[in-house]
Amino acid sequence: MAIQGKKILICVSGGIAAYKINYLIRDFIKKGAEVQVLMTPSAENFVSKLTLSTLSKNPVFSDFYSENGTWNNHVEFALWADVILMAPCTANTLGKMVHGICDNLIIATYMSAKCPVFIAPAMDLDMYQHPSTKQNLELAEDFGHFIIPAETGELASGLVGQGRMAEPETISHTIQDFFSSGKNSKNLVGKTVLITAGPTYEAIDPVRFIGNHSSGKMGFSIAEEAAKRGAKVILISGPSTLQSNHSNIEIHRVTSAREMFDQVFNFYGNADIAIASAAVADYAPKEIAKEKIKKKEDELTIELIKNPDILKTMGERKTKQFLVGFALETQNEEENAKGKLNKKNLDMIVLNSLRDEGAGFKNDTNRIKIFTKSEEKEFPLKPKNEVAKDILNFVEEQILK
Ligand code: PMT
Repeated sequence: MAIQGKKILICVSGGIAAYKINYLIRDFIKKGAEVQVLMTPSAENFVSKLTLSTLSKNPVFSDFYSENGTWNNHVEFALWADVILMAPCTANTLGKMVHGICDNLIIATYMSAKCPVFIAPAMDLDMYQHPSTKQNLELAEDFGHFIIPAETGELASGLVGQGRMAEPETISHTIQDFFSSGKNSKNLVGKTVLITAGPTYEAIDPVRFIGNHSSGKMGFSIAEEAAKRGAKVILISGPSTLQSNHSNIEIHRVTSAREMFDQVFNFYGNADIAIASAAVADYAPKEIAKEKIKKKEDELTIELIKNPDILKTMGERKTKQFLVGFALETQNEEENAKGKLNKKNLDMIVLNSLRDEGAGFKNDTNRIKIFTKSEEKEFPLKPKNEVAKDILNFVEEQILK
């Protein structure tokens, strides 16, 4: 198990979500980790030291000195840990972390640490949306810390919105994934990644459209993965029910290819990496009927005109961008994918296999083959979030060469 034998230092600050830490400690201990808990004095109002120390099998400290006069050495705690988890991390603790306000044991320990730091923020929705919180989370990411975004739901205040600390299982999986991936993948910090996702809908009349089966899952998975790696992500999505709460992801929703084109070029100039995973309609009705078309004749002809090719135009306007296209082919897959790589001036193309059941549109899995001008690599059928990792690993290898 990935966290067996790992030393996890949990720093608890004063929020109602502190009670969830009990479940997380149990989970870590069951999986064979060593757990040390430190807390702020105000966290003691929400969860008792006795509970935390019983579960973690270690004494719990909240001050620089213990009652018997011994010094609780923050440097020792910091250097002991393989990973530090700030959870729940209140707006106050987050602010102190990023501005070096070292007035309690957990901040002194955090500032003495050399290991990776995970932050699970928890606060009320307006505090979470406040520009200072957003800026502080961005700063924490710039420091190379991993943010486990707050979730949306009912909050202790009774309000509903984003701010609930991620569930213990989510936090546990994130830390397990970190140890099992074996690498500190924060390579995209400072990069802007522009991603297109989902289908486009081309209106025929006020109630009908030409569309396709894309769900947006592939593009949203790439966006989540790029955000986790520290990138600022601009996600231009066609109609899709998918959501993302990651603070690094800015979603712009569009309907038609024309709208997608316009949004892409609002952001393309500043992008370092652009990934076109959208299934863009190649044609749109020449005229959009103002009223619902009535059923009359046995045959109906709709005249179509070509949509702009967004990816091709990105290739033509390329300055610094590393440009990645997708290919979805039903015949001569590889030949056509390589043709697109050249014709659209791409740095890399991802070919989906449509031959596999479970790959391509709608499914949660995909099978891909990646081509650059000089390399190619085939991958087995995997969940789309794993495929997203393969794609970004390949991109990173190319740009960090
Ligand atoms: O959304 P999911 O359900 O998860 O499915 C994912 C997917 C199968 C849609 C995705 O993995 C994928 O393959 N997307 C591209 C599908 C496609 O339209 O391929 P294409 O071969 O027709 O286009 C080639 C490339 O040009 C694509 O990068 C496409 O985004 C881009 N393009 C195409 C036409 C156009 N007018 N503008 C474009 O930018």
